Amino acid sequence: MKLENKNHQIAIDGPAGSGKSTIAKLLARKLKCLYIDSGAMYRAVTLYIIENDLLNKSENTITRHLKKIKITFRENKKGQAVILNNKDVSKKIRSLVVSKEVSKVSSKKNVRKELVKRQREIAKNQFIVMDGRDIGTTVFPEADLKIYLTASPYIRAIRRKKDLENLSERISTNALIKQIQRRDDLDSSRMISPLSKAQDAIVIDTTNLTISNVLKLINSFLPA
Ligand code: DC
Repeated sequence: MKLENKNHQIAIDGPAGSGKSTIAKLLARKLKCLYIDSGAMYRAVTLYIIENDLLNKSENTITRHLKKIKITFRENKKGQAVILNNKDVSKKIRSLVVSKEVSKVSSKKNVRKELVKRQREIAKNQFIVMDGRDIGTTVFPEADLKIYLTASPYIRAIRRKKDLENLSERISTNALIKQIQRRDDLDSSRMISPLSKAQDAIVIDTTNLTISNVLKLINSFLPA
């Protein structure tokens, strides 16, 4: 894949805790291209909805608010900060309350329509690695490379637990497994762009693989 050529897209999809963000970030660094965490965009919209007391409001009301929701990414020492209406919400969007509500918010038709549009706009004339649930199936169906990462629910819960401990949030492994399975069910069964593997995606089960093994595998599939 020639770096000087713009408009390359690498789609990395999979369920929560499959290692998508870690792998996508490192891959983008290696390829010196843009990385976008599409899940962070759904999380930022969810945070806005929670903070503005819109959770139980109609889809029409939520749709009217969408244009007031500005989401940007800013590179910093720690990696990539997520900015919601000029506020750094990188930590807040990972909280348990947001995780609990995000599947419901991301199943809304107009939320998806708006975020898919924004994701395509960000990617215009860019060499980009984007991770999410529907990147290979809906956002970039013509992506140069599609990877679908999976892992056992137990290992995914352990990974999420570590992330949450860094945010000083505590939850038992069993409760996390249940939360992850509930989110998988909701994400896979929603009507619009459910979590699903694109037909032409390469499936990698990361349960017993190190990060560097996964990256090596992906490297071997990169178009020359
Ligand atoms: O990757 P994550 O766990 O941070 O994603 C949070 C939620 O956002 C996930 O439960 C489903 C939703 N999501 C989505 O519907 N489509 C995407 N492309 C990315 C995330």
